[in-house]
Amino acid sequence: MKAVILAGGTGTRLLPLTRLMNKHLLPVGKLPMICYGIDSLREAGITDIMLITSRVSAGMFTSYLGSGAEHGVSLTYRIQEEAGGIAQALELAQSFVGEDAKFIVLLGDNLFEEPLAPHIEAFMRQEDGAMVLLKQVPDPERYGIPVFDESGRIVHIDEKPAHPKSDSCVTGIYMFDSAVFRFIGAQTPSQRGELEITDVNNVYARLGKLAHRHINGWWTDAGTFQSLLEASLKLSGKEGDAP
Ligand code: G1P
Repeated sequence: MKAVILAGGTGTRLLPLTRLMNKHLLPVGKLPMICYGIDSLREAGITDIMLITSRVSAGMFTSYLGSGAEHGVSLTYRIQEEAGGIAQALELAQSFVGEDAKFIVLLGDNLFEEPLAPHIEAFMRQEDGAMVLLKQVPDPERYGIPVFDESGRIVHIDEKPAHPKSDSCVTGIYMFDSAVFRFIGAQTPSQRGELEITDVNNVYARLGKLAHRHINGWWTDAGTFQSLLEASLKLSGKEGDAP
């Protein structure tokens, strides 16, 4: 199975730190943020990874990560010329993923404490469709929030709702079959001018093909000062590169 890590974007919530430095290269504990996602995937047995980032940041990623060999993975790089949304970035991975393949998409600022393998294995057993992982949070207005039917199936995801219908959010790991590229192709930009991953997930939800599992371990989207600090405190014990 292959994975795609999205590490572009403008990181506006972390300005001025992100004026010069891509958010995913900011330090979390002893390592640049991007390392945690790569390690989580490798620990789940996924070593064939495409990293999608912006033109200005690509050089820093290749300098730091190279081929990926030091991390036990094989990296392929792709440039997203403009920050046009998560779904637009994902479209760039189509040829890498290929036909009839299931794959994983990870937002590079999403840090998971628990192993991803059990969730990925559950997705592998699923015939087709997509899967998201949910986490209970105190501030659901910040995230994509699922709406469930009586049987507990996700029928819709509200993106950053003012009045969230649940306190579990959709985390930034998405498991898709290759139908996702057809669904992205049919999307139009949202009000903020981006192709939204939530709109793509909602196509699966409408078709009754969006499965979910809950994560219990610590998780964060390290895209704000508060969560970046929390992540650093939580993960500072993890071993970095040799000095
Ligand atoms: C994105 C998604 C949102 C999801 C979040 C998880 O939001 O749009 O649905 O809950 O990632 O990190 P962003 O952080 O890009 O605003």
